[in-house]
Amino acid sequence: MHISALFIINSLLAIGAFASQNLICPGLQTQDNGCIRYTRGFDVTGVITEVDLTFPQVQDECDCIQECLNRPGTCANYVWKFSTSAAVQSGHRTCTLYSNFNLPSDVVLEFDLNSSNNLNINADEITATGNNPQRGALVPQAFKDVNLTTTPDQDAVSGPVWTLANGQVQC
Ligand SMILES: *[C@@H]1O[C@H](CO)[C@@H](O)[C@H](O)[C@H]1NC(C)=O
Ligand SMILES: *[C@@H]1O[C@H](CO)[C@@H](O)[C@H](O)[C@H]1NC(C)=O
Repeated sequence: MHISALFIINSLLAIGAFASQNLICPGLQTQDNGCIRYTRGFDVTGVITEVDLTFPQVQDECDCIQECLNRPGTCANYVWKFSTSAAVQSGHRTCTLYSNFNLPSDVVLEFDLNSSNNLNINADEITATGNNPQRGALVPQAFKDVNLTTTPDQDAVSGPVWTLANGQVQC
């Protein structure tokens, strides 16, 4: 086949693949009327600005993403997973929101939690969870056994919510 024809077909296939990307939580008020990306079975979130939400306020992953959308000034990502043994026993995953992400494995970052320049970082929670310094790691897996160590949870999800300079939100 002529090389430029191949190029055109490849381009069309690429566009087609993008257009048919499955919508996550259709109806959310975002650029795509839903999200088009998240991570299944792993937790990409960080440690800053932790907000902990539980059932029945948050009943599914779409409620969780909506809670992040409700906080455009402080939420950049969310995780819907079993965060504690108690959550596993209750049968309800939790929703946790953050303003920063997991760090790659060779990076460690210590926060000056006493600085008066900090704003909305929820320093008490960072201290309580022992997350200062924030130690980089491979993106942690989510589990659903009571000790959260052995049975992978493929229904856990985590992902970004980006509030863009043009006022749109991508997730
Ligand atoms: C930060 O403040 C806390 C409580 O006021 C104090 O115990 C701690 O030593 C301070 N840490 C630093 C690094 O100044
Ligand atoms: C969970 O951990 C506890 C304490 O280490 C242990 O006794 C128990 O057997 C574990 N349960 C499972 C299902 O692995």
